[in-house]
Amino acid sequence: MAEIKSVGIIGIGSYVPETILTNEKLETMVDTTDEWIVSRTGIKERRIAKEDEACSDLAVRAALKALEDANTKPEEIDLIIVSTITPDFAFPSTAALVQDRIGAINAAAFDLEAACTGFVYGLVTGANFIATGMYKKVLVIGSEALSKIIDWEDRNTCVLFGDGASAAILGEVEKGYGIISYDLKAKGSGGEFLDQPGGGSRNPATVKTIENKMHFLKMKGQDVFKFAVTAIPETINNILEKTDINIKDIELVVPHQANYRIIGSAAKKIDLPVEKFYMNLETYGNTSSASIGLALDEAIKKNKIKKDDYIIMVGFGAGLTYGSCLIKWSKEV
Ligand code: UT7
Repeated sequence: MAEIKSVGIIGIGSYVPETILTNEKLETMVDTTDEWIVSRTGIKERRIAKEDEACSDLAVRAALKALEDANTKPEEIDLIIVSTITPDFAFPSTAALVQDRIGAINAAAFDLEAACTGFVYGLVTGANFIATGMYKKVLVIGSEALSKIIDWEDRNTCVLFGDGASAAILGEVEKGYGIISYDLKAKGSGGEFLDQPGGGSRNPATVKTIENKMHFLKMKGQDVFKFAVTAIPETINNILEKTDINIKDIELVVPHQANYRIIGSAAKKIDLPVEKFYMNLETYGNTSSASIGLALDEAIKKNKIKKDDYIIMVGFGAGLTYGSCLIKWSKEV
């Protein structure tokens, strides 16, 4: 077996649709207030895809930016992984649609479904193909058009989510850099806390499933909240235990952007100042698979990350899934 290679992010990009939906506008749509949304979640606005804009359209735009950032041609990509819970279609995969659209003529392509943990699942999965020496470049995308599966009459969910996409190119990096530890977990017993019950093979789409609004996202918010505040510290401790790196050595944590209260509670539990958690949920809301990459891209552009920094990415969400990865940043920024 060939020597295991070090794998890191060599390029990143993101894209959000133009249309901004503010809390003030939501006040005119459902029985809610800007004050409630901001105090309970931290979200002020989110982006909404156009009627004719689907998951792959957002994914392609993010992917092209990541390719440019990595100075990589589409034909150099060996594999495309798209993490999404809002694919264009049940099949073909959104990854295959992206493969065609960006001209990645040599790439394999598949979708990955781990909801809000999907970006971390995708990075770890993609990295292993490169670590073995079998592939050289992998494109990992988190893309969501969540507005298409939101019940715009349900105030419990419609104020939380937004649309967007982020993409990372993985490649071999200097020894000792890149992904140095990871932890992926699932707790399927909590699947009913966050789901889209209609439209699959359990409840195929019928007039009745539509009438019962089963094609919309459903969430038991408090159950997911309770899960998240223990899942984040657990998975971060798991990745640190596998290394000799201490929590105090971490320069930045890029968490899934669901709720500033969840992030605040997790920060306390792992004894890291909340300022070390990068947050942009105020402007994009919860974009599920896209959120960690969107935050990472923004953090890089704001010079919050430099070469040699230890960065943690951590996600949690439907499945239930959770997980994290620790990266020693290798790219000069
Ligand atoms: O990305 C996947 C992971 N998802 C998450 O991480 C979400 C986790 N959950 C949460 O972030 C929070 O549970 C929510 C933000 C969803 C809800 O916050 P909460 O503090 O748990 O509120 P709640 O569900 O306990 O609701 C409190 C009250 C209820 O009214 P009553 O029963 O106390 O009269 C709700 O009906 O707030 C009401 N409420 C609203 N009021 C105004 C629920 N949604 C709204 C709303 N505007 N949009």
